[in-house]
Amino acid sequence: MESKKINKLVLASTNSNKVKEFIDIFSKNDVKIIPQSRFGIDSVNEKHITFVENAIEKARHVSRLTKLPTIAEDSGLCVDALNNNPGIFSSRYSSLDKKNCSISNNSLLIKNLHNIENRKAYYISIIVFINYPNDPIPLISEGRLYGKIIDEASGNNGFGYDPHFYIPIFGKTVASMTNEEKNSISHRSIAINKLMNKIIYG
Ligand code: IMP
Repeated sequence: MESKKINKLVLASTNSNKVKEFIDIFSKNDVKIIPQSRFGIDSVNEKHITFVENAIEKARHVSRLTKLPTIAEDSGLCVDALNNNPGIFSSRYSSLDKKNCSISNNSLLIKNLHNIENRKAYYISIIVFINYPNDPIPLISEGRLYGKIIDEASGNNGFGYDPHFYIPIFGKTVASMTNEEKNSISHRSIAINKLMNKIIYG
C-alpha cells in the first residue's frame, strides 16, 4: 500500500486546551500542528445541528484564509438521560457567550441531572481533514470516550466537563488524570489516530 508522509497541519481551533491536546497527540506521529491563531484568524460561528457539519465549516473557513490543508474538530459531551445534550451545545450550554462559561456549564449539567440515577455519558470528537477549501471529499473520523457524570467535582487537570466526567476503569475523573493518561484513552486521540491512518493510507 502506498503511504503519504505528512509533517505539518493547520488546526482550525481557537480553544487553547484543545490545541494543546492536538499538539501533544500529533507529536507522537511526528506531525507539527499550527493553530489558526498563528495566522490571526478568528473563530467561525457554529450554526449547524451536527458535529460533522460544524467541523467541516471550521475547516473550510481556515483553509480558505490560509490556502493550506486543514484539520478541524467539533466535540462535545452527550449525556444519556438528557437526550444526548449538551451535545453540539457543550461549549455554550449555560450561555451563548462561550468564553469562560465552563464553570457555569458544569453547574447547569449537575442541576439538570438532579435526582437522575442514570449518569451514563460519552465525549465525542469528530475531526475532518480537507486538502483545500472546497475539497469535495473531506476525510472524517470519530472517537468516543465513555464514562459517567458525578456530582462532586474532582481533579484540577483538563478542561470543560473533565472534573465531573468519571472513567470507571481508571477509578477517577478525567480532570484527575495526567495529560498522558487522558491522551491514551480520549475521544480526541482515538479520532486523531483514525484520521492519521486515513491521511497516510487512505
Ligand atoms: P468545540 O470547541 O466547539 O468543539 O466545543 C467543545 C466543547 O465540548 C468544549 O468546550 C467542552 O465543553 C466539551 N468538551 C469536548 N472535549 C472535551 C474534553 O476533552 N474535556 C472536557 N470537555 C470537553
